[in-house]
Amino acid sequence: MAAVTGLQRSRVVLLTGAVIMAAVMTAGPASGQTQVKTRDQTSGKTWIERLERPDRIPGLRIDDVVACLELKPGDVVADIGAGTGAFSIPFAKAVAPSGKVLAQEIWPDLLDYIAEKAEKEHVANLETVLGQGDDPLLPENQVDVVFFHDVFHNVVDRPGYLKILVSSLKPGGRIAIIEQEFDDPIAQRWDVPENRITPEQVEVWMSAIDFELGGTFDIFQGENNPKGAGMPERWFVVYGRRPPGEDPA
Ligand SMILES: C[S@@+](CC[C@H](N)C(=O)[O-])C[C@H]1O[C@@H](n2cnc3c(N)ncnc32)[C@H](O)[C@@H]1O
Repeated sequence: MAAVTGLQRSRVVLLTGAVIMAAVMTAGPASGQTQVKTRDQTSGKTWIERLERPDRIPGLRIDDVVACLELKPGDVVADIGAGTGAFSIPFAKAVAPSGKVLAQEIWPDLLDYIAEKAEKEHVANLETVLGQGDDPLLPENQVDVVFFHDVFHNVVDRPGYLKILVSSLKPGGRIAIIEQEFDDPIAQRWDVPENRITPEQVEVWMSAIDFELGGTFDIFQGENNPKGAGMPERWFVVYGRRPPGEDPA
C-alpha cells in the first residue's frame, strides 16, 4: 500500500469535510424543516393532520368569533399561527371586498396549504406571511385586529413578542387571544404547565405595552363550549390601546 504524505492526508481531511458539509446542507434536518424559536416544534405536516380532523371545526365556533370581533368589510386581520386557515378563510370573507387577512405562520408548508385552500374557495383578499417564532414579521401600522387561537402560549418570550407586535397595529388596533383554560384536563394532556398561560399573565404583559382589556367572551366556557368537539374550555380576551394619560387600573 502506498504511504500517505502529510499533504495528502490534509487533502483527504479537507475533502471528507467538504463531502460531509455538502451532505448536511442537501439533506437538512431529519424532519425536512429548520428549527424555529417556539415552544412547540411540531412540523407543518403534522399540524395539517391534527388541525384538519373533521370534528375540530364545530369546536371553533367560527361565526361566533367573527361576531365577537365585530369584523367588518375593510378591516385588516392578522391571523397569527394560522395553521390550516380554519379562521383565516372565514375572516377574509367577513372583511371582503376591501379588507384583507394576513395569514401568518412559521412553517412554509402550512402557508402553501392555506394559499391552496383560499384559491379553491375563490378568496382573493388573503396574503400569507412567513414569520419567525419570536417576530411575527407583519407590516407596520396596517392591522386592525391581531388574532391568536391556541397559538400565543407557544411563543417563548411572550412580553417581548407583544412589544414587537404593537408596531403592526393601526392606532385603534386590537389584539384578540383565545387560549386553553390552564386547568382543563384536555389542556393538561396537550401541554406542560410552562406552555400554558392564564388571563392574569396576559393582563400583566398587555399593561406593559399600555394596552387595556376591551372585552371578554365566554363562548368556549362551561356549557357554551361545543360538546363532542374534543376541544378544551378556552378563555377569549380582546385588548386595545389604553387612552393616553389614563393610568392602569
Ligand atoms: C394548535 S395550532 C392552531 C392553528 C390555528 N390557529 C387554528 O386554531 O386552527 C398552533 C399553530 O401555532 C403555530 N405556531 C407555533 N409557534 C408559533 C409562533 N411562535 N408564532 C406563530 N405561530 C406559531 C403552529 O405552527 C400551529 O400552526
